[in-house]
Amino acid sequence: MATLASPAPAPFTHWSQRLDPAAIAHVPGDGGPPVIGNTFKMLADPHGFADGMIGRYGKVYRNRAFGGWAVMLAGPEANELVLFDRDKIFSSEQGWGPLLDRLFPRGLMLLDFDKHRADRRALSIAFKPEPMRHYMGALNRGIAERVTAWGSGPMRFYPAIKELSLDLAADSFLGLPWGQEAQKINRAFVDMVAASVTPIRHALPFTQMKRGIDGRAFLVEFFTREVAKRRAGVGVGQDMFSQFATATDDTGNLLPVDEVVDHMIFLMMAAHDTITSSASSLVYYLAKHPEWQDRLRVEALAVTGAKNGRHDLAYEDLGKLELTEMAFKEALRLIPPVPSLPRRAMKDFTFGGYHIPAGAGVGINIHWTHHAEEYWPEPERFDPTRFTREAEKARHKYAWVPFGGGAHMCLGLHFAYMQVKVLMAQLLSRYRIDLAEGTEVSWQPWPIPKPRDGLRIALTAL
Ligand code: HEM
Repeated sequence: MATLASPAPAPFTHWSQRLDPAAIAHVPGDGGPPVIGNTFKMLADPHGFADGMIGRYGKVYRNRAFGGWAVMLAGPEANELVLFDRDKIFSSEQGWGPLLDRLFPRGLMLLDFDKHRADRRALSIAFKPEPMRHYMGALNRGIAERVTAWGSGPMRFYPAIKELSLDLAADSFLGLPWGQEAQKINRAFVDMVAASVTPIRHALPFTQMKRGIDGRAFLVEFFTREVAKRRAGVGVGQDMFSQFATATDDTGNLLPVDEVVDHMIFLMMAAHDTITSSASSLVYYLAKHPEWQDRLRVEALAVTGAKNGRHDLAYEDLGKLELTEMAFKEALRLIPPVPSLPRRAMKDFTFGGYHIPAGAGVGINIHWTHHAEEYWPEPERFDPTRFTREAEKARHKYAWVPFGGGAHMCLGLHFAYMQVKVLMAQLLSRYRIDLAEGTEVSWQPWPIPKPRDGLRIALTAL
């Protein structure tokens, strides 16, 4: 007797479509208390939570948080499978969608496969050597001026570098002078970033979400007007926005205006808190480890030559700050600005002996991998020598992934290295950095790590 074929499973075309949790019930794990699941446990101590789950269930486990189930995959092999994604299984759009779709739709991280590849190629123009050289000039100027103004004395580093990064972005990203217009853009943008992680997801009056949505409307209107101007040759320069506005696709056509606008808004988001977080963690570790601070200072002075009292770093000399780069990588290992990455499986796959069906939410945990003793001896120790060329070669390629990997690997990583190197050259050549007396720095781990007290340090002019 013929049996009726069961209906084909619905394709998952949007992140809001749910997979029946029974489909992943064979994966070990637990969903925590009803309704809230493990959300609060995870938020309170993301690393301790992941460590506990991995200890109990192994490196493939099932978890329920933020209203949905996901399969978490831990370790370098998992990172490689998901990030390299040889078989085009994992959707970034549907992984990030629940968090970012409302405020940052159609950003590069919210595109997949062919469309993603084509847009990424078009946007890469903004990271070629010529524009990068231009940003470097803007970074040297802006950072030198602000760092000099900080002067000796106590300060909170985190809010100061956040403000500086926003002001620098006005120049390098948008080609605008610092002033009222740049400040309005910064305000709108800060509201959007805050809204993207606010627990109240509806834009009710007086909520952060409402401020974020209003901020987005303002930026869309502003950038749409500006694209037209730049295409008409008004205010066009070497800044990132001008590059995007005049970028062309595979067929030589300009990108549609709304796409340029969405890409620009997303890029500013992707750049901003990540640089702020990682510059803060590097300064924190250098203040805690004066011996490394001294070594980086000697390197910076040797490379910049301290000409006429200036400490500008030349584009050609970026590669010479080897110790600075190692220390930055170690800070990114210890406190990765993006601690975990979400995806959704678009096809069935097998990992660690488990069959995972299409439609399952999948996560990898960068922070956990960066702190696992099996890959990093004495994982809590700050030791930049882990990043000598030989040490890097000897390790699994996906044991250190602060910038992700594969098709979605951070597009701005060279910009991030550049900004942090210019900052270090300008700062360490002028000041000694100490943690404020009696300071125990505690880091808020989520969504992007930041020091709870703003990182209280003291600068002493050399
Ligand atoms: C230390 C600083 C930074 C860190 C740690 C960082 C980290 C990351 C990570 C982990 C991803 C991959 C996300 C995923 O695969 O789901 C990513 C993507 C991205 N980042 Fe960064 N980022 C940093 C700075 C920047 C800067 C400065 C820019 C721009 C100037 C930038 C632009 C982007 C863009 C456009 C993407 C999306 C790439 C794609 O989907 O193809 N990032 N970043």
